[in-house]
Parts: sequence; C-alpha cells; structure tokens
Amino acid sequence: TSPIPSELVDTLRSANRVVVLTGAGVSAESGVPTFRDAQTGLWSQYSPEELATPRAFRQNPKLVWEWYQWRRELVSKAKPNPAHYALVEMQELFPEFTLITQNVDGLHRLPGSNIIIELHGNIHRTKCFQEGTIVESWKDTGDVPPKCPDCGGWLRPDVVWFEEPLPEAELESAMKASRKADVFFSIGTSGLVYPAASLPHEALNHNATLVEINPAPTPLTPKADFMLKGPAGVILPELVKALRK
Ligand code: APR
Repeated sequence: TSPIPSELVDTLRSANRVVVLTGAGVSAESGVPTFRDAQTGLWSQYSPEELATPRAFRQNPKLVWEWYQWRRELVSKAKPNPAHYALVEMQELFPEFTLITQNVDGLHRLPGSNIIIELHGNIHRTKCFQEGTIVESWKDTGDVPPKCPDCGGWLRPDVVWFEEPLPEAELESAMKASRKADVFFSIGTSGLVYPAASLPHEALNHNATLVEINPAPTPLTPKADFMLKGPAGVILPELVKALRK
C-alpha cells in the first residue's frame, strides 16, 4: 500500500496553489550532511553556528573560507536525489507551484525546475565582503580568502550567515506565496531557524493544509495536518506516483 494517505491525495487533487519549503534533509540522500548532523572529520570540532557568522569571518577569514571550500567540494560531488527530481515533477501537477529552499547547495537547480527561491543564498556564488557585489572570477594570488578585484577586500560565499538578514526580495516572495498556499509542504527541515521557519505558520494562518515530510518529528509536527514519516527520497516519488494515478 502507498505510504500516502488517500485523504491527502484528494486534498492535493483539488489544490491550486502548492508551496514547498525544503531544508538540508532533502539533500541528505545526496550525501550532503545536514546541519544538525555532527560535522565530519576535520570540521567535527566546529559547529555551523560558530563558523557561519560575520564575526567568525572577521576573526578568522581563512578558517571560514576554507570551511566553505570544503563544503563546496562536498556539494560539487553530490548529485540530485529522487526527492529533487520528484519536486520537479510535482511542479507540473499543480496550477501554481512555488519551491522555497533554505539549502545553499544548488541541487534543486535541475532542468525543468521553474523559479526556486533560495532564502539562504547559494554556496556556488561568491561576493565581496565589503560591497556585497557578486564576483564571478578573481586572480588566484594565493591569498586565502581571495581578494576582491574591485576593492581589494576579502571575498566571501554568497550565503546568509547567522545574525544576517535574508535577501529581501526572496523573503518577500516566499512570504507572499506561503500566505496564498492551499497546501504547504515542509520537507527535510528541523524548523528551528527563523525567519524561514515562520513560513509554514504564515500558511497555517491563512488556512493552508500543512504537510510535513521528515523521518523525525520537529516542532512543526503537532501543527501538521499530515506528517509523512520517512526519507524525502522515498516519500516524494510515492506522492508523485499516487497523484499520477
Ligand atoms: N529526508 C527528509 N528529511 C530528512 C532526511 C531525509 N532523508 N534526513 C534528515 N532529515 C531531516 C532531519 O530529521 C532534520 O529535521 O532534515 C532536517 C535537517 O535539519 P537541519 O540540519 O536543521 O537543516 P535545516 O532545517 O535545513 O537548517 C535550517 O539552519 O544551519 C542553518 O542556514 C542553515 O539553512 C540552514 C538552516
């Protein structure tokens, strides 16, 4: 039998506007460790909270830059998994479909993926620490972090660090979509980090049906109309199959 409750399939059949919020859990099956997983190897003695901050970067720009280099290599080896592909298929099944992600790994950027709202930036993009302008390429002068070709300051990854504001346009469109959602999916996120974690609550406040997909319960679980317990790479393809019947 399908792990998808028939009443969820019925609800989805009549849904016009579907919004999905993804977190690190959807990339777990691509081999990208989630944030709450213990960091492996060399970086095990650090936590993201102490490295992914402007203060940490100012204090030790080399360490933070090298941590992101490590993560970039990890991510560049990762391949999208069935969860990423199922989400591309899902966008064809509804009149309006919005994919919002907290992930910076770019794995949702698949052929056929329409607009993806990257709330926390993208690890493959680099910007000037001072000006914030995106820098496509720079001379490798052996500096770590490399120097901005325009102002000579440090370069940094174009990701949102703790204590930093999210990109305004992205947050605004994510909020607007969440408020209009008929069905809101929270997939592979622990729901601990705001303001991304407020999006499902916005949807609930506007009478959306809330679906959570996660192998473990989260603070959001008690508010979910449906909690599909399991890995996204297994559940999402099943959901698409049930909808295509
Ligand atoms: N399928 C679905 N969910 C999974 C899977 C899987 N295969 N494996 C793990 N999970 C779940 C975990 O149970 C957990 O609830 O994914 C969630 C990952 O949670 P976090 O590691 O906290 O990642 P996330 O919620 O994306 O973190 C949000 O915090 O560190 C900051 O900016 C960073 O974007 C990140 C934000």
